[in-house]
Amino acid sequence: MPISENARAVLERRYLIRDEHGEAVETVDELFHRVADAVAAADVRFDPQADVADTARSFYRMMTELDFLPNSPTLMNAGRPLGQLSACFVLPVADSMEDIFDAIKNAALIHKSGGGTGFSFSRLRAKGSTVNSTGGVASGPISFMKVFNAATEAVKQGGTRRGANMGILRVDHPDILEFITCKNDTKEITNFNISVGLTESFMEAVESDGSYELVDPASRRVTGRLNAREVFEAIVRSAWQTGEPGILFLDRLNKDNPCPGQGEIESTNPCGEQPLLPYEACNLGSINLVRHLRRTGTGYALDRAKLEQTIRTAVHFLDNVIEVNQYPLPEIDAMTKKTRKIGLGVMGFADMLLYLGIPYDSDEGVAMASQVMELVQTIGHQESQRLAQVRGPFPLFAESVYRDGAPLRNATVTTIAPTGTLSIIAGVSSGVEPVFAYAYYRNVMDNTHLIETNQILRDKLTELGLYSDELMRQIIEHGSLAHVEGIPEAVKRVFVCAHDVSPIWHVKMQAAFQQFTDNAVSKTVNFPNSATQEEVAEVYRLAYELGCKGTTIYRDGSRDEQVLNIGVDK
Ligand code: CDP
Repeated sequence: MPISENARAVLERRYLIRDEHGEAVETVDELFHRVADAVAAADVRFDPQADVADTARSFYRMMTELDFLPNSPTLMNAGRPLGQLSACFVLPVADSMEDIFDAIKNAALIHKSGGGTGFSFSRLRAKGSTVNSTGGVASGPISFMKVFNAATEAVKQGGTRRGANMGILRVDHPDILEFITCKNDTKEITNFNISVGLTESFMEAVESDGSYELVDPASRRVTGRLNAREVFEAIVRSAWQTGEPGILFLDRLNKDNPCPGQGEIESTNPCGEQPLLPYEACNLGSINLVRHLRRTGTGYALDRAKLEQTIRTAVHFLDNVIEVNQYPLPEIDAMTKKTRKIGLGVMGFADMLLYLGIPYDSDEGVAMASQVMELVQTIGHQESQRLAQVRGPFPLFAESVYRDGAPLRNATVTTIAPTGTLSIIAGVSSGVEPVFAYAYYRNVMDNTHLIETNQILRDKLTELGLYSDELMRQIIEHGSLAHVEGIPEAVKRVFVCAHDVSPIWHVKMQAAFQQFTDNAVSKTVNFPNSATQEEVAEVYRLAYELGCKGTTIYRDGSRDEQVLNIGVDK
């Protein structure tokens, strides 16, 4: 198995089954057998003669070769009593005490099992409006978000991983201005990512410098008007200051809603890549692109034949996951099986470009993104069609936007996940992000610092006879190769990191992947600390123009605690 020591440590710490004393009772190898066997078992439901052992072998091989990995809950829970295998959920929050607290309880059950939850709070009546039953005044969406947050905090300790939430508020909700700065004003919403749900009419009003109506969701009455540009600027200012809120183009999510008869899509999962209907869940999986290269005489090329094979096996795997999944609520079980959404994506994209010698921030890099994702999308849909012939289409197929075409087994097939943990296990760059840093110090015991270097860079510099610890120290100090002397320009041009890539190229890359993705693309647009608010606004407008479904930005150093710090691995 090409699994590194680091990956083994992550798996051992967080994924292996443990006994009541906290001792691991399975090995990493047994973990992958457990997952492969549990997921392959679904085959007999459709064909009593199916060779389940053969399917299990292909799933096992695909995971242990690190060609593909399913999302963390599948690795943690498949073949175990809890059996909850999805990373993404969206729960409805209706405007009553019963519904609000039901949603909190349901979210707690999901967090306990390693899933993340998204909510739209847009249906909650505005702060200060009346409460009929008591004659009191409503406290509004933001005050309830704090209750959701506290519940998440409490579940944190007992669960398999830290609970994560997405909170959405429509831009025409009367409490929108309070929402935009809510994470700056209080530390009580730390377990949420927040995004403003922008509408097409709002974007038009920004364009024409007009005003737009605020509507109280309970009474449907217009409660006021705001100047669209001022609200847009408030979003930009807050994002510039803290990285939040993100933005989400709601009408665009709904334009791509495969089953509009089921109602509107109001929210995504916590990291924004998976729009879902209320009570819908989705399981994700990511193909490791670095494992889909073949050697040529002079270097590397994309191994399309291998990639096609992995896409087919991965779609089969993810569709099986829906079958063997044990959902935390009957409503989720029913809704998820009506649409059977899966989210197949990629990781290690930036690393693949390094092997190919293509700069991330170039037309060639963007063309490679389109080429890879078009293949995942096309072959993914083909495999979903093949499964539909054997297993039947997803139950809502006849009312879906696909009804006039070939039957599909899954209402959506593709999603680009962040692959936070998966990319560590696979030892590659995360999702479709550029490499964050090529070298950093790792703190080890007795306070010594070890230099960790990106293996692809290390190999390249060694090949050129240039590798030295001193050179690595300079890269760490500068945060990038760009201003380090003694590295050839041609190497610098290819080995760009997130901070070398200008925000515009980040967006272009996101848009290229979005073009061939059914769901959405997890992507952060990195800005240097010196970036202006106008530059952030420009990226938002470009994301809108280029057809992205939303954007998240981060300006270096703008948040006190940065998760990834250049230089020192905390
Ligand atoms: O790599 P891994 O499978 O662990 O997860 P990811 O690709 O970083 O995140 C995919 C999704 O998992 C997120 O969008 C969330 O829906 C969920 N997630 C979560 O609920 N809690 C976390 N701590 C991390 C991810």
